[in-house]
Amino acid sequence: MQFALIPFALLPIFYTTFAVNTPVCTNGYTLINNKCLALYTIPASYSAAEESCRSVGATLDNEAITSFVGCTVSLVWIGLYCVDNDPSKCLWDDGTGSAGVYSNFASGFPHINIGKCVYYSAQGTLAGKWVSGDCENDTRAYVCELPYTIADDCTYNYNGFCYSLHSSAPFVQAQETCEQECGNLVSITSEMENRYVSIIGSRGINSVYVLIGGMCPSSNAFAWIDGSVWSYNNIDPAQSLGAGYCMITTNSKTTSLSFGFWGSASCNDAFPFICKRPAGTQCPPNQPVIAVTPVPNQPSYCNSTLLLAPGVITSPNYPQNYDNNLFCSYQLATLGSYKILLKFTGFITEYGRDIVQVYDGDSSDKPLLGTYSGNLNPFNLVSTGNTMYVTFKTDRSAVYQGFTTKVLSYSGPLT
Ligand SMILES: *[C@@H]1O[C@H](CO)[C@@H](O)[C@H](O)[C@H]1NC(C)=O
Ligand SMILES: *[C@@H]1O[C@H](CO)[C@@H](O)[C@H](O)[C@H]1NC(C)=O
Repeated sequence: MQFALIPFALLPIFYTTFAVNTPVCTNGYTLINNKCLALYTIPASYSAAEESCRSVGATLDNEAITSFVGCTVSLVWIGLYCVDNDPSKCLWDDGTGSAGVYSNFASGFPHINIGKCVYYSAQGTLAGKWVSGDCENDTRAYVCELPYTIADDCTYNYNGFCYSLHSSAPFVQAQETCEQECGNLVSITSEMENRYVSIIGSRGINSVYVLIGGMCPSSNAFAWIDGSVWSYNNIDPAQSLGAGYCMITTNSKTTSLSFGFWGSASCNDAFPFICKRPAGTQCPPNQPVIAVTPVPNQPSYCNSTLLLAPGVITSPNYPQNYDNNLFCSYQLATLGSYKILLKFTGFITEYGRDIVQVYDGDSSDKPLLGTYSGNLNPFNLVSTGNTMYVTFKTDRSAVYQGFTTKVLSYSGPLT
């Protein structure tokens, strides 16, 4: 018990002294030009070099940073792999595309008969130029690159976020646990982050599947529970994701789901899960729990506790007719610094009598954005904050199809 002598009163001081948003590197890497780099001088094959970087979530560095390499080594792998003798057919290791836009090959290269991998010379007449090399038989020094992060004492600190791994729970309870840490079930927004999440998922748990914060609220509509934009998609092409499912990833090569790809699971099934929160923040205890509905149990969302964007709300029975003497309320929210974009894509009610009202906030006490009835063309509304409240009231006669509305997270001008 080597830490038992620390006086208890010192702990809170320790707990609140993170440097404010200072970029730092983990794993002993060096911060250079906002990148975290490590030079490995012992020559290795390209695959061994790549594996070495990958084991901590890093990639082979993309640039010949000669000043960093110095004169300790002369030949250095870069994270580029060519499938043909054309720079546009050479792909960056970190998933950022091809070298067609910018490349610095020596004359006569790339030349895949010599090799599909690429290294650069740090010295001599070819200094800074790129040359083809045999991925297995040539050995070179290499530089691994990690994104910088923010100082925090969490175990998994990567690219400005802290990740934590937890034992099994179904989606809603897992999200509640993450909220206690001021985070959410993990969103994955890049190839690099997906690799890092796979690394965490494979550490010390007995499940091949790990629950992530992805949801499939309706067919071909995907969403992250933390409100992140669905910018990177790694759903296993061999899987079909049904509406109403939550998402898992796998850290095993022996399942029907391919390694690192995402597939669907029932939101009620328990899996180990990963939370994500911004690094460098303190989380006061006893966070309020937001009641989250990962997918609608009542498809219209009439009177549901809360719909977290993105999702769809409709009048009851849509696209069949709604009922007379109806009252529905819809509480909408989006996480983070997003606004809500309501996209009404279908709207027909009894004019002047069966009425939709939209409020800019979390209740009918907040400013009214508009009152709608009749047969309307598609229209959009944007909130000023991250909540909206919608009501639908019908009178005692005449019923129509009603309305259907997409609820989206929104951060910029309408296109
Ligand atoms: C690597 O070297 C081995 C033995 O020297 C040789 O058989 C093999 O063809 C080489 N591989 C490539 C891709 O050149
Ligand atoms: C929704 O809630 C309101 C107020 O609690 C209630 O009057 C109304 O009947 C509910 N609507 C439905 C369709 O259950």
